[in-house]
Amino acid sequence: MTSPDLSSPTSTSPLLLAARQQPVPRTPVWFMRQAGRSLPEYRKAREGVPMLEACRTPELVTEITLQPVRRHGVDAAIFFSDIVVPLQAVGLDLDIVPGVGPVVAEPVRTRADLDRLPPLTPDMVPDIAESVRLLVAELGPTPLIGFAGAPFTLASYLVEGGPSKNHERTKAMMHGDPQLWHDLCARLAQIAGAFLQVQAGAGASVVQLFDSWAGFLSRADYLRYVEPHSRRVLAGFAEAFPAVPRIHFGVGTGELLTSMAEAGCEVIGVDYRVSLTDAVERTGGRYAVQGNLDPALLFAPWEALERRVREIVAEGRRAPGHVFNLGHGVLPSTDPEVLTRVVELVHEL
Ligand code: CP3
Repeated sequence: MTSPDLSSPTSTSPLLLAARQQPVPRTPVWFMRQAGRSLPEYRKAREGVPMLEACRTPELVTEITLQPVRRHGVDAAIFFSDIVVPLQAVGLDLDIVPGVGPVVAEPVRTRADLDRLPPLTPDMVPDIAESVRLLVAELGPTPLIGFAGAPFTLASYLVEGGPSKNHERTKAMMHGDPQLWHDLCARLAQIAGAFLQVQAGAGASVVQLFDSWAGFLSRADYLRYVEPHSRRVLAGFAEAFPAVPRIHFGVGTGELLTSMAEAGCEVIGVDYRVSLTDAVERTGGRYAVQGNLDPALLFAPWEALERRVREIVAEGRRAPGHVFNLGHGVLPSTDPEVLTRVVELVHEL
């Protein structure tokens, strides 16, 4: 568990208190993908600016990160960036294609390809530190959440060359050339770890490691081929920033929840397929939980949505700490006014 840094204005924020399993004045709430296409002001700010260029422009990053905080009154900002930003920063040729996701020009599939992945050093991302500093100054007592993609999820994009339904090439490398697989993941762990540390060093007060696609793995494969690398990222971070809580999140990870929690975090992210009650039980009541409203329910009639939000808040009270969130990201066609109403309801309860 982290020890509080009392000199920070965010140290007594509801998010930090919940992450440290301390009593909260209200349940903290934020949403994955809260900055993005559901907001008209986001679409306006992004007009004519490619995604990766937006991520590397501090004034734009600051504006877009603050938009959902202003509009919804959420308890945290999440840094506007992408899991592939540090990969581009080390020199990989990749793009984020609208409606598709990250696409890599030359997939990473051989030992020679590893040479195109040097370690990430802070001088490769001075703009990231600058964006974080600008944001922390604007946010005052509201925490900024920094993030990175976990080695497996990053590896999947690199090996497949883009988004994948079955992750077949990734699994083929994992099982067919375990040494190459582990060497690739070790590089990615360095890159993810350095990216998190740049953000925390510039003032982010919480971090989240996204292993979005870990749910495609069996527990045995997760433990053997993936967990040691995520563990290294999380442990290295805790050593450098002992006061900054770590959230570990994946999708479809019911079978992996215990292992993902034990990989090293204060808060375990729970997707909507597992109840918070089951998540608390599976993790022995030792971790704060984050989640887990199904983002599709934001399209349901208010009465049905309200009932579900109330149930989740009630379940969360049985956890040692609860951060209200969705079970995955905000869908682009979500009505932002519904999100604001959910924040108000969670704060009222
Ligand atoms: O508000 C936030 O959550 C902060 C910003 C954020 C983005 N990407 C912005 C973004 C975060 C935390 C991410 C992480 C990310 N990126 C993950 C892990 C989280 C998850 O959703 O599981 C993954 C897998 C990616 C890879 C990626 N980048 C995808 C799948 C996409 C969407 C492709 C699409 O167009 O549907 C992106 C692009 C992206 N990242 C957008 C945003 C706001 C959309 C870009 C746009 O506006 O055109």
